[in-house]
Amino acid sequence: MVRDISKMPQGAWERLGMKYSVMATTVTGLEDIASKEVSALLGVEARPDRSRIFFETDLEGMYLANLRSRCIHRLFILVHRGEAKSLDDIYEQVKSVSLTDYISPQSSFAIRAQRHGEHPFTSLDIAAAAGGAVIEAYLREKGVRLRVDLRNPDVEVYVLLRNSELLVGVNTTGESLHKRGYRVYDHPAAIKTTIASAMILLSEWRLDEVFLDPMCGGATIPIEAALLARRIPHNAFGRSFAFTNLLLHDPEVYAKVCENLRKQVSRDELQIYGVEISPKHVDGARRNASSAGVSDVVRVIEGDATRLEEFLPFSPDKVVVNLPYGIRSSRPKALSKLYTGLLKSLSRFAGSCSLIAITAAAQVFRESAQSVGAEIVEERRVLHGNLEASIFKCFL
Ligand SMILES: C[S@@+](CC[C@H](N)C(=O)[O-])C[C@H]1O[C@@H](n2cnc3c(N)ncnc32)[C@H](O)[C@@H]1O
Repeated sequence: MVRDISKMPQGAWERLGMKYSVMATTVTGLEDIASKEVSALLGVEARPDRSRIFFETDLEGMYLANLRSRCIHRLFILVHRGEAKSLDDIYEQVKSVSLTDYISPQSSFAIRAQRHGEHPFTSLDIAAAAGGAVIEAYLREKGVRLRVDLRNPDVEVYVLLRNSELLVGVNTTGESLHKRGYRVYDHPAAIKTTIASAMILLSEWRLDEVFLDPMCGGATIPIEAALLARRIPHNAFGRSFAFTNLLLHDPEVYAKVCENLRKQVSRDELQIYGVEISPKHVDGARRNASSAGVSDVVRVIEGDATRLEEFLPFSPDKVVVNLPYGIRSSRPKALSKLYTGLLKSLSRFAGSCSLIAITAAAQVFRESAQSVGAEIVEERRVLHGNLEASIFKCFL
């Protein structure tokens, strides 16, 4: 297609080839998986860091990562990186940043500040200092005093102080991508969608293999597997993105990226099973799968995960599961019986398969695996909300 330059928004032509420094947030403990995913998606080198990843990309890459990454939460264009020890340092550095390429004079903005480490000030103090600096800088450059709207801003400027490292970014995503928009049934112990996706990637599931979540609750893991396999972008569920409020947004380029993604969506037959013992959750899981548009490939079966061989039509190749933790009941014996029962059923039925399991009862899982001779080849710690959990990869 030939682009009509005269119809392009001011500056858009230059922005097409421009590279942006990007910082994307993700689940603590899964940064390497998010990096690999983004590298494969965009063909760039993404570098893992604590709870975030860094990479460079252009406008199309920014759209693509927002629409297709299943492991990242928010994607920020990094406009400043420096060292700051005091609120004065923060004020001076943010004042030196030009945001006129991102925020239009008519837009409102808000600072979202975060702080890690020991400081004699709070994140609210950081937000106040950075907010004043943004207004001052914009006034100096454009002669316009930007409006602040803390509740519903057009543009969010993210300021992070990690010990003495200061990072300033413009939010291109808006609300975190882990909120997919398809959940109509809220399971009380639902797994975060981004963790579910990272576990699926960790399993190295091939699309011709049988995939199983034997304790699927509201079916987050099977649904994420189907959406990943079918390459369904996040805008399929009507979400809006913050980049549409940014000056760099180019509707024509965005439409082209969306059109390409639409062509890549597959309707391939897949073998994805979810098993769940509670009829209420089975019903919720089916409703979630239907809302996500994948009920044709996600089959939810009511049954007991310790007796899979009695009712599952196919033996699984890849098993990914979010095990009950027993936090409230805290009955290690009952948990141990359940974990051992599942592992035994899998080895009776599947013979050899690989399992990715997340649980906060890590010791119970280790002992259960050992008792049935399952080989744990990897264990990693992740943060699931505020709870420390372990993800195990093992072979049966
Ligand atoms: C941590 S929740 C899974 C939540 C799910 N990942 C989600 O996002 O909605 C664990 C689930 O295992 C189910 N469960 C417990 N024992 C089971 C068994 N023996 N067979 C099958 N499901 C079982 C529970 O009913 C619960 O829904």
